[in-house]
Amino acid sequence: EEELIHMFKGIPFTTRSSPELLKSLETFHAREDDLLLVSYPKSGTHWLAGVITKLYSTQVTLTSPIEFGDLSKLEELNKLSSKRIIPTHLDYNMLPPNFKKKKCKMIYIARNPKDTAVSMYHYYRDNPNLPTVDTWTAFFDLFLKGDVVCGSWFDHFLSWEEHENDKNILFLFYEEMKKDLPKTVKEIVLFLGLNISDSDIQDICKKSSFSQMKSDTEKENSDPSHTVCTLTSNRKLIFRKGTVGDWKNHFTPKQNQRFEEIFNEKMKLSKMAKNLTF
Ligand code: PPS
Repeated sequence: EEELIHMFKGIPFTTRSSPELLKSLETFHAREDDLLLVSYPKSGTHWLAGVITKLYSTQVTLTSPIEFGDLSKLEELNKLSSKRIIPTHLDYNMLPPNFKKKKCKMIYIARNPKDTAVSMYHYYRDNPNLPTVDTWTAFFDLFLKGDVVCGSWFDHFLSWEEHENDKNILFLFYEEMKKDLPKTVKEIVLFLGLNISDSDIQDICKKSSFSQMKSDTEKENSDPSHTVCTLTSNRKLIFRKGTVGDWKNHFTPKQNQRFEEIFNEKMKLSKMAKNLTF
């Protein structure tokens, strides 16, 4: 099991993101019109990617995540001639510096960490690329310690929140999207400077519902081996439940109390913490 994970700059990665590849990101060549989709794992990456690709329909290429696989993937990325949409689970400090220098547009999607933890627990259980976890109790501790792929949820979120005022970064929340998807999609449209009619937005929202995306994947209407997650290329592992509040079916009252204590401590200076509705 152990060999599924290696540490890079203090953060656990799966061996699917090789150390050579992670190292080579330091000199990765960004283009001004690159669009980055950034998330901690299990925060709604595929949902966001689904919306974005529908907004651009055929004009762009949704690439593999930049920290994915071997170096040849990066070479493929370098050769692409069309506009690139690049998903990534990297925290801000590990992002190739060239993206920052060129002020590329970035969309960060966050999900409340209790549901993120639960979603990740199931992902650990279902995904052969991840180490085995026996129980929710065991996983809960690993998650709070940041001893999971891509490291601590808190460190990831805070590393990006530091840049909340950067004009080139848009912050989105999973729970907001669940509550009012058209509102979020309009924010995205404005941020990207696109011209999309309200009826097209309605249509895109309908096609991006959990049930629609899940059934598209099951019926193989969308490529079953295309994911925007570094951790698997099996799309069927992504669409599990798609709800807000599943943590209530997993957390014991004691775990909840401990989680909130740690959350309040780690997030005490965070202005965006209030957007993370449990
Ligand atoms: S990954 O593997 O890290 O890229 O996973 P990611 O796509 O970020 O997150 C997977 C969770 O998002 C849910 N999901 C959705 N929720 C609502 N609507 C739509 N359309 C949607 N698509 C995916 C997915 O079900 C995972 O959450 P859980 O709670 O496990 O169901």
